[in-house]
Amino acid sequence: MSNEILTDRPEFRALQEHYKNVSPLHMRDLFAKEPARFDRFHVKNGGILLDFSKHRATEKTFELLMSLAKVCNIEDWRGKMFAGQPINNTENRAVLHVALRGSVDKNLSVDGENVSKFVDDILKKVKLFSDKIRADKKITDIVNIGIGGSGIGAYTVCKALASYNDGPTVHFVSNIDNAALDPLLKKLKLENTLFIIVSKTFTTLETLSNAEKAKTWAGSNTNFVAVTENVEQAKNFGVRPENIFPMRKWIGGRISIWGAAGLAVAIAAGFDNFQKFLNGAKEMDTHFRTAPLDKNMPVILAMLGVWYRNFFDFRAHTLNPYANDLQLLPTWLQQIDMESNGKNISRGGDTLNYSTGPTIFGGTGTDTQHAFFQSLHQGTDIIPCDFILVNDPANIPLNANALAQAKTLMKGFSSKTEPHRNHPGNRPSSTIILDKLDPFHLGQLMALYEHKIFVQGIVWNINSYDQWGVELGKILSKDITQALESKREVGDYDSSTLGLMHHLKSRAS
Ligand code: F6P
Repeated sequence: MSNEILTDRPEFRALQEHYKNVSPLHMRDLFAKEPARFDRFHVKNGGILLDFSKHRATEKTFELLMSLAKVCNIEDWRGKMFAGQPINNTENRAVLHVALRGSVDKNLSVDGENVSKFVDDILKKVKLFSDKIRADKKITDIVNIGIGGSGIGAYTVCKALASYNDGPTVHFVSNIDNAALDPLLKKLKLENTLFIIVSKTFTTLETLSNAEKAKTWAGSNTNFVAVTENVEQAKNFGVRPENIFPMRKWIGGRISIWGAAGLAVAIAAGFDNFQKFLNGAKEMDTHFRTAPLDKNMPVILAMLGVWYRNFFDFRAHTLNPYANDLQLLPTWLQQIDMESNGKNISRGGDTLNYSTGPTIFGGTGTDTQHAFFQSLHQGTDIIPCDFILVNDPANIPLNANALAQAKTLMKGFSSKTEPHRNHPGNRPSSTIILDKLDPFHLGQLMALYEHKIFVQGIVWNINSYDQWGVELGKILSKDITQALESKREVGDYDSSTLGLMHHLKSRAS
């Protein structure tokens, strides 16, 4: 990758010029001028349709965006990722979540280990174990203890595949708040419960604190399994070696759902459905690797995001699944997007002079229409949206609402007599329609967003696979915990932190 700064690239400058011509245009005029705009600006692949016609972009815009993607060597970097090269440069690690769904060369080795053999072995172990637990009618409750990618990934998938869950009930505990685990332990019976401790590092305070509490409650280690890269630490905790599902350094925590971190999904919905979930992601991997850039779903979503972030200066992006079972998808996306691309330092260690990852939020439609859609329609900020629909003929009003919202955001509405009713419109959105909300299409969808984030990270020349920004807070919280638990103060604090600590301690005394 050339070290040229993004904003110095001729292709970036060409988009800056092009922006001057496009930003004044209204989308309703683009549609008036090109009645067949949908035909040109939609892509179908394996049961997913992406409509990207409701965007402030012309044919020329996409041409220039794809030129920028090319000159940023998206294809080379994509090749590096799938080839297991250490693209996570600050930790000198490969990024191979794609291997977990079988999308790498069978001969690929990392750190002297054949990757595909590791994946085959771990999936066999997941299958054997999940089959055993599902057959053991004594186990009625699973408690997945994990936070971030070690919790929300499996939680999102279990929620999304609720109609496929015919196994034990899975409870997800992540927060260190006593309210997360205590009420659950009051209801559970040890003989019916299995705890899955998911932690790549096995050092995460929240997870270890909850795991210790569960172990004390259980009084034994028989009902515990662990999913971790730190096998020794899991053994020291007391998990039996045969009950440890290893991870590898090249599996990023926030994108680890495709391996043993998805154990709860395999238990809840059965391994066959978990395999279909992996197959869907593999289909999207193939699409990402083979489709031409201007027909490539992850690249299209990524470059539209760059267009709005770096040229329109839109600072947020909202994800609106119009499917109740996809209600955790925005939370999952929030972590994989903002923890990957919420960065201000380049791969080479320089402070960036341009914007990177947007603020991601969202919620389930139609509930979001009664939450923040007022702002999306008439707010002073423009926030591009993704609408995600499931093509379910039994849910016509739900899907009709999604289409109506997207149309209104695009077209707007004007009232000559009542200005407060004016909708400016020209608010862009993409619409994704899944043929069905099943394991395969869910896998495609989640992999689509993973690859979108990858592409944006390459364009912004940042490392999307470390997370130094979350490490400092973890360290500082230990000091403050000690100070709050002890009578004496430790550490030199600002007056705000000190004042807050004194107030908290005054309640405690
Ligand atoms: O949020 C920081 C982070 O490291 C995430 O990347 C990760 O998913 C989460 O904490 C939990 O980490 P671990 O799996 O090591 O417990």
